[in-house]
Amino acid sequence: MKVLLTGGAGFIGSHTCVELLSQGYDAVIADNFCNSERDVITRCEKITGKKIACYDADVADKEAVSSIFAKEKIDAVIHFAGYKSVPESVKLPVMYYRNNLDTTLTVLEVMKEFGVKIFVFSSSATVYGDKNPVPFTEDMPTSTTNPYGTTKLFIEKILTDTAAADGEMSVVLLRYFNPIGAHKSGLIGENPKGIPNNLMPYIAQVASGKREMLHVYGNDFNTPDGTGVRDYIHVEDLAKGHVKALEYAAKNAGCEIFNLGTGIGYSVLDIVKAFEKANGIKIPYVIDPRRPGDIDESRADVSKAAKILGWKAEKNLDDMCADTWNWQKNIK
Ligand code: NAD
Ligand code: UD1
Repeated sequence: MKVLLTGGAGFIGSHTCVELLSQGYDAVIADNFCNSERDVITRCEKITGKKIACYDADVADKEAVSSIFAKEKIDAVIHFAGYKSVPESVKLPVMYYRNNLDTTLTVLEVMKEFGVKIFVFSSSATVYGDKNPVPFTEDMPTSTTNPYGTTKLFIEKILTDTAAADGEMSVVLLRYFNPIGAHKSGLIGENPKGIPNNLMPYIAQVASGKREMLHVYGNDFNTPDGTGVRDYIHVEDLAKGHVKALEYAAKNAGCEIFNLGTGIGYSVLDIVKAFEKANGIKIPYVIDPRRPGDIDESRADVSKAAKILGWKAEKNLDDMCADTWNWQKNIK
């Protein structure tokens, strides 16, 4: 099966590309490198020993996407391409709606033209909003607290309608929890531009000396130690979840939603301690006020993915911390 990975040079896309190639799939990448580096492709080729067809293309550009489908015999699409920063989406909502929705609509139009029926989408646990009790199950009501999250919710709706309109279409919506870690080779990982918004990249930059200390956003949450609790998942486990989703989609029409998490919650201070222990590096921190929009706890119910996809996360927090540092320590 030949799979088009839009945004395949990014953090999650690159790990999924490596996993697909190592399981015998063919992968084609389309990325405009607005949030990734070109040498990621060479690094993925180095890990897998395989050549990757990569197109420097804006996935919202219909002509560009059509020409990829005309050249490659694409069987399925995993749609990673999009903007993902919550604070940026609050400042620049139109840019977020434009990119995240346009890329999706363009890919769907071109898939229809070329008769491609399998679509896997990078959704997010952010669609569970701030009202549901943990653990989150796929059938819970959805809501959002920021434009980034709303793009995910709108796209989920567009894809649900698309699958309902075409009996041969298969759509899988993957709601990722908090992906961290890096490939065990240390060749690919997450390298955010500017000041990291997310916890693990920030900790990794404190460890490398690039940032002075971690700012812990609040210690008055309704959690055992007062800091926010999240369901962190190793990006390599997440990548394997995509392969399982493709296998499922190849056999089943319709639209299904799956949580991809571990089902285990860790607080901010748990993560700091685990990073220190795994890597023998002290992470200085201060307690700051809460960040707007943050919830007490986010954690997946992972039983649906286990039952239907036969997928379960295998790596633990120690692996996530060690692999993050193994990648970060080589970044200049
Ligand atoms: P990333 O920014 O590392 O990867 C996204 C890739 O898409 C980048 O390589 C970027 O250059 C590319 N891209 C963006 N707009 C494009 C366009 N118009 N045309 C072509 N390429 C374009 O992000 P990631 O962490 O790998 O996330 C992948 C997907 O998963 C995103 O849709 C994101 O919203 C979603 N997601 C991520 C997380 C997370 O914590 N990382 C959590 C939930 C959902
Ligand atoms: C955030 C986004 C979410 C997105 C996800 C993955 C918000 C409100 N939510 O989730 O929509 O899908 O990233 O990209 O932005 N923390 C600190 N100090 C830091 C950074 C984070 O204490 O410097 C804390 C946060 O308060 C939170 C935890 O660490 O309790 C995890 O934060 P983060 O990594 O940003 O992920 P989420 O907030 O879960």
